[in-house]
Amino acid sequence: MTQSSTDVRQPAGEPDDSREARLVAALSLEQKVRLLTGGSFWRTAAEPAVGLGSMLLSDGPSGVRGEFWDEREPSLNLPSATSLAATWDLGFADHYGVVLAHEARTRGVHLLLGPTINLHRSPLGGRHFECFSEDPALSGALAVGFVRAVQRHGIAAVPKHYVANDAETDRYTVDVRVDERTLRELYLAPFEAAVTEGGAWGVMSAYNGVNGATMTENDLLHSPLDDEWGFDGVIVSDWTAVQSTEASARGRQDLAMPGPHSPWGEKLVAAVREGRVPEAAIDAKVARLLRLAARVGALAGGDTETAHGDTETGAVTGAGRALVPPPPPADFAREAAAAGAVLLRNHGNELPWNARDIGSLAVSGQAAVTPRTQGGGSATVVPPHVVTPLDGLRAALPDARVVHDMGTVISDAPVPLPSHTLTNPATGGPGVRTRFLDAEGREVFAEDRLATDLVWFGTSRPASAHTLELTTRYRPEHGGPTRLAIASVGRTTLYVDGEPVVEADFSLGGSELGAGLFVPPTASGGTTLEAGREVELRVVHDLTSRDAGRTGSVSLAFGLLPELADAEAAIARAAETARGADAAVVVVGTTTRAETEGRDRETLALPGRQDDLVRAVAAANPRTVVVVNAGGPVLMPWRDDVAAVLLTWFPGQDFGGALADLLLGVREPGGRLPTTWPAEQADVPVLDTRPTDGRLDYAEGLHIGYRAWLRAGRTPAYAFGHGLGYTTWRLDELTLPDGIGAGEDVTATVRVTNTGPRAGKQVVQLYLSRPDSALDRPARWLAGFAPVHLGPGATAEVAVRIPARAFAHWDGSGWSHEPGAFTAHAGTASDALPLSREVHLS
Ligand code: BGC
Repeated sequence: MTQSSTDVRQPAGEPDDSREARLVAALSLEQKVRLLTGGSFWRTAAEPAVGLGSMLLSDGPSGVRGEFWDEREPSLNLPSATSLAATWDLGFADHYGVVLAHEARTRGVHLLLGPTINLHRSPLGGRHFECFSEDPALSGALAVGFVRAVQRHGIAAVPKHYVANDAETDRYTVDVRVDERTLRELYLAPFEAAVTEGGAWGVMSAYNGVNGATMTENDLLHSPLDDEWGFDGVIVSDWTAVQSTEASARGRQDLAMPGPHSPWGEKLVAAVREGRVPEAAIDAKVARLLRLAARVGALAGGDTETAHGDTETGAVTGAGRALVPPPPPADFAREAAAAGAVLLRNHGNELPWNARDIGSLAVSGQAAVTPRTQGGGSATVVPPHVVTPLDGLRAALPDARVVHDMGTVISDAPVPLPSHTLTNPATGGPGVRTRFLDAEGREVFAEDRLATDLVWFGTSRPASAHTLELTTRYRPEHGGPTRLAIASVGRTTLYVDGEPVVEADFSLGGSELGAGLFVPPTASGGTTLEAGREVELRVVHDLTSRDAGRTGSVSLAFGLLPELADAEAAIARAAETARGADAAVVVVGTTTRAETEGRDRETLALPGRQDDLVRAVAAANPRTVVVVNAGGPVLMPWRDDVAAVLLTWFPGQDFGGALADLLLGVREPGGRLPTTWPAEQADVPVLDTRPTDGRLDYAEGLHIGYRAWLRAGRTPAYAFGHGLGYTTWRLDELTLPDGIGAGEDVTATVRVTNTGPRAGKQVVQLYLSRPDSALDRPARWLAGFAPVHLGPGATAEVAVRIPARAFAHWDGSGWSHEPGAFTAHAGTASDALPLSREVHLS
């Protein structure tokens, strides 16, 4: 298969006598080409001549950030994608999508940049939290639910990053080497579902290359995306991913983001004039952009009724079909966090607790007070508030003594200072005075902010600014030796009452948009503060010293780096508290630098001394529940020595409320693992994300995730699909036709009984295997699933749809079927499949 293309083919179903084509014909070449690069960092360009408004694109996908990364314009922070995937519930994905549509609509957003549907090939992948699963069928099904819900409300979904952007190391340049069958059956499959079943209006092309061609120039944009799947939407580049004029413009790439500058523009006009790029290619791109605008209500006379306010052109939209998304239920974030939480272990039915039995509760771990509600990078939204685990438990147990011990600290980045401890010297209110100064020290722009971790991502800052200065008066809540920290690239100094306490000068090289912006390096310095006595903090950042990066964006953070005078004593103290309490909760998790866009993880081990903390607390109190606050797998060497392990993922802004609901049985943990949870890093069959000579070889082919574990005959800590609830179940009959024809969907039914004392949820999972196959095949593969909610004692015949594709394989030129006997296995996890039956494919 060759994937580098310089030819121009008319995509399938291209409109030529359509309204779009007529509008295109009314535009000059310059006008058309101008539309193909963003009008600004987050917007497309408008063209009043044809009634085209500017469309606003926004990151998500676990919230909708909107145009500004700014605490003054907060947005709902929902659980990250691994949590949503853990629901295995398309109905829930639909609710989640509707909430996102509402968030988008209220922020004037036309295109939501998500869902992220790359696969969990290696658990070290830095953006694991943002992707659904290691399984293509589960990822694809969820993508369909998400896309449909968002688009039903007139907001375009933009599944990303097409394709094989499954790790972050050298993401701009890495060339992924992957065979065609693997590409089709694994990495392309979720995109295929999102396009053919979900009807996605946009797709984002990735930074990386596949088999020799960078994705914005890759023929995979044409085939299968366009010609085979009939994608009639817009291919939006990942930010700055278009790096050529001709090669990308001749292919199917439609929109170069961000703008207003890109390698297209004038150079592309010249290339067309000189015959190096056919004008027909430009026309097709513009037509698709207009079609998209009509769909999202940004084209006069377009498809949707609910026009977005367009400040640039005032373009008016026509009558149409989009639904107005209802406002989300007030506790949706809380419900979602519980729906995705996975109860990995529940020894002796420790959980749920009865609130009446908990007179005292020992809570430990830094994540109990500074949890991670979301992963790092462009997926970040700024929530209006966060309910920490400690806050949530205290609120739910008003009569209990709930004591917190840090136990250990894990921060590798400044912990932001709460705004109520800060006084803005300019306003006298809470917050920070932020000033941009020119070379002479004159103020060119100033604003009042409420946070101490600030990001200017696509927000224009004055071109003449040389220095960024942040000033606040800080009233510490605790006194004594204190470590203050800053995080940024370039030269930065933090002064306390005029004395320099932290000085940093980090350089990362100029090409990265992610690492320096999303996970800037941290420097710290010690000082002594007095509780309640105000000091002036001033951060001076030399803007000219920072690597410009690909977008000139800036991030700058300052705050505390928690320290413990005596690490042993802190663990011992937490254990002592636990010894005297009715029960104990240890909240463990990963850090800002561990799970983020822009870098892969180095280890699956929990950072710092969290393992020691868990062991000490569990030894002191047999009723120890460990709460795992991570977006992807972490090692839990103590897992068999604690009463319960509850995986909450990055659960969004209502972490604490959801946690209390789960521990006290107000809600059941609804999640099942969408990815395998290893016991040891060395056991992971596919681990390395580092390219060799610029190439990352997917040599394992079809065998990733549970497929690879099964093939290697290794046992993980918890298998794909695993998760417990608060009741018990029996599965006792699998019904399936004996024979089916190639290309037919089939429905299996499984009789499921809730044999326990309370209502609960179960996920019926159906896998296929093919003994004696002539082909290389996974040991088994997920073919269908269905969540079921049943009251105590209730029985249901649960229908599980198995799409025809589950029986097919890619033979190099099309989907083929190997006639003969497949075995269907039904159960509640990839390693718990009590029922099986043969089905003959003819
Ligand atoms: C990320 C995309 C994101 C874009 C805009 C890129 O660095 O890979 O997922 O949508 O930035 O923030």
